[in-house]
Amino acid sequence: MTTLTIDGKTVSAKPGESLLDVARRSGAEVPSLCHHPLLVPYGACRVCLVEVSKNGKSKLTTSCNYEVQDGIEVRTDTAGVRKHRKAVLELLLALAPEAPAVQGLARANGITAARYQRIEPPSGRARCILCGQCSRVCTEVVGAAALCLSKRGDRRGLVAPFEERVAQSCIACGACAHVCPTDAVEMESAAIERLRALSADRRPCRYALMGMMPGALCPNNYDCALCEVDQRFQEASSPHHPVFVARGLHRPKAWEER
Ligand code: SF4
Ligand code: SF4
Ligand code: FES
Repeated sequence: MTTLTIDGKTVSAKPGESLLDVARRSGAEVPSLCHHPLLVPYGACRVCLVEVSKNGKSKLTTSCNYEVQDGIEVRTDTAGVRKHRKAVLELLLALAPEAPAVQGLARANGITAARYQRIEPPSGRARCILCGQCSRVCTEVVGAAALCLSKRGDRRGLVAPFEERVAQSCIACGACAHVCPTDAVEMESAAIERLRALSADRRPCRYALMGMMPGALCPNNYDCALCEVDQRFQEASSPHHPVFVARGLHRPKAWEER
């Protein structure tokens, strides 16, 4: 076990655990936008900043992609943390001013008006903060790799591989929309229509592809109204997207309380 202190509290953690998860478990309130406990950390949104001290030296760091270490002292609410988090949120607000999650965090951090001019999103997704959570779930959990972040700087955007309009590998499972922190992904019917247009013997069922149903073809002939898995996905109250259940992954409580 690893032992560290968080806001003055001594805390134990498993080696390799993310500082963000451990801090939250200890009762600290650290915000996040791009962190999902079941995905590989990416450190894109920068709102999960904390201050870490080790051997007499302190630095600000993102906590979602910082592995716990023995003996470190972590403070989650210093003046430096608050100042830099506020600056990060002002930038995110310029990128995605209509995203409710960004607006909520901005308000909670004392931002009352936008300081920077609106940055036009290159991908055309007005609420996208380019956190890559959708592309990570698609690659790491679904295995379809139908989305990716491309280019850099002000040309950075979210695209299908080779900038196709609809990725041929997309199985229309909706996991990307499910994990997006800013509701920027809208499922289009184009992907599911493309699957339906394939001849019966070539049509894969998206949930069968995720290992949730035996066989590779849709047993309901693509009538999603008859599909139990699809109904479960549609239930707004369901905390789990089928893809996580299919992979034997379950979202811990911390994620529900995000
Ligand atoms: S719907 Fe599923 S397969 Fe398609 S892009 Fe989203 S996560 Fe990937
Ligand atoms: S669409 Fe959502 S999940 Fe994907 S990069 Fe943008 S904000 Fe992140
Ligand atoms: S949650 Fe840590 S950088 Fe986004």
